[in-house]
Amino acid sequence: MKYTHHNNELNHQHINQEVYLKGWVAKNRNLGGLLFLDLRDRFGITQLVVKPGNQFYDTALKVKNEFVIEVKGTVIERESKNKNMNTGDIEVEVKELVILSSSETPPIIIANETDALEETRLKYRYLDLRRPVMQNYMVKRHEITQAIRSTLVEEGFYELETPILGKSTPEGARDYLVPSRLYPGSFYALPQSPQIYKQLFMIAGFEKYFQIARCFRDEDLRADRQPEFTQVDIEASFVNEEDVQTLIEKVMVKTFKKVLNVDVESPFIRMSFHEAMEKYGTDKPDIRYELLINDYTKIFQKIESPLFIGKSYIKGILLDNGGHLSRKRIDGLSALVKKNHGEALLYLKKSDGVISGSITKLMTEEQMNSLNLVDGQILFIVPGEFENVASSLGALRIELANEFNLIPENTYKFLWVVGWPLLEYSEEEQRYYAKHHPFTAPVDPEVLKNNPKKAMAKAYDIVLNGYEIGGGSIRIHNQNVQQLMFDTLGLSKEEIKHRFGFFVDALKYGTPPHGGLALGLDRVVMLMTGTANIKDVVAFPKTQSAKDMMMQAPSDVDANQLDELQIKVGKI
Ligand code: AMO
Repeated sequence: MKYTHHNNELNHQHINQEVYLKGWVAKNRNLGGLLFLDLRDRFGITQLVVKPGNQFYDTALKVKNEFVIEVKGTVIERESKNKNMNTGDIEVEVKELVILSSSETPPIIIANETDALEETRLKYRYLDLRRPVMQNYMVKRHEITQAIRSTLVEEGFYELETPILGKSTPEGARDYLVPSRLYPGSFYALPQSPQIYKQLFMIAGFEKYFQIARCFRDEDLRADRQPEFTQVDIEASFVNEEDVQTLIEKVMVKTFKKVLNVDVESPFIRMSFHEAMEKYGTDKPDIRYELLINDYTKIFQKIESPLFIGKSYIKGILLDNGGHLSRKRIDGLSALVKKNHGEALLYLKKSDGVISGSITKLMTEEQMNSLNLVDGQILFIVPGEFENVASSLGALRIELANEFNLIPENTYKFLWVVGWPLLEYSEEEQRYYAKHHPFTAPVDPEVLKNNPKKAMAKAYDIVLNGYEIGGGSIRIHNQNVQQLMFDTLGLSKEEIKHRFGFFVDALKYGTPPHGGLALGLDRVVMLMTGTANIKDVVAFPKTQSAKDMMMQAPSDVDANQLDELQIKVGKI
């Protein structure tokens, strides 16, 4: 049969037409001898009816859910119309029906709503992916990928590939290693990103490169992290920060318009890393709502209590309509603050003109009045060091925004986080780490040389609705500066030679100034489809413990495979 229509197409205009359809049976019912079948494909559902006396009636009786069938029939008007379906005005009266494939009863229900456990869904992912809601995630992923790709091609970028089997790249996570058979005891590393390769493309003269690149990082997983994920990896020569940011804004604005028909405001605002930490308590602020972190150091520092004495930062969040929060709930919030490294959560609230709370006894009337609390407000205070105060209040801010419904729906707020320090210092290990990666250009190499703690980076992150959806920088293109960076990171000459020798060499042969960025494609798709779970937008994802439930990977391998690799597995 040649199919004339898909299953989301037919309406009253097609009445009396003869059509050929195919698909999966989503539902089948026998109503007083009339057999109704819902036929599903990737576009939607069409209702079929098989009447008694039809020569295919007995075949239709055999059809169960998830059978694959094809039919020939006539479009007729439905008696009871379904306004919620595109095809709800009609049904197709079946004239011929062929079963192409039968199905056992599926272990999960193939419908938008499912009560199946995630484990079961992942084990039978091919069935899970049949659910319309999952199909929509995948289709949107395709559309988003194509929109991004076409904008980059229009902007003159070449789509080029880089190897998967390579050498460790320093993105800061643990590598996935692949043993070499030909060189026993040697390993390839799967790329954490194509960072070095894309810089080599610039040295090779390609000027504008992008790749939809698979990246692999063996790190702790979260709701927005997978061990293998996809980046839209971009690099260009002769650009500055502004050029890269403008390009990415264009890509995002066009993609949102094409895929969601949403007009995104641009240019995106720029916020310094420091301001983000001060006001939002995170380097990826959600600016869809206010609820800013305020500084109360001056007022509380004067209070004679070990809670405040000697604390360099005393900051807080003032919440309207929070006066009714119960003691128990505040204890819960206090636990959240502590989990995020806050020393303590203190509070004051005003109701019926009276201020109550955990620290009223420590304060004078005048001090309390200076807070200017309005009836119904609650003020949360955390004292301590900058980072701990920021991260704990940042977590509290998100929790309160969710609880008090302060986050507007279907709103997309982008921003650039700029003004990053180049390095982080680990007191424990007494050494510097690159805040982004070691190829990020310092704003001023002299500062890097003389006062590394103060060195700033030409780096930028793009943030959407509280998620880091991308990061990038202008790169070091001078071998002396690159050497200085490696030295500052405490890499020995041998280590540099062993790990990055080829790259330092390449920098010697006419390296153009260059920079770029990588978007986390999975996160972009996640946000554009409104799910909070990255697994929803990855066709075959891993579990939180990095397992493929369907293939049961990772798994044992044959002894002879290990022999070939000269690997012995055992407890150390
Ligand atoms: P970075 O490490 O910031 O930069 O990664 C870029 C973006 O990739 C996404 N991302 C992830 N998404 C899902 N699961 C993960 N485990 C994961 N890790 C990262 C994030 C992040 O913003 N080479 C540089 C880019 C550059 O400098 O051009 C890099 O990889 O959205």
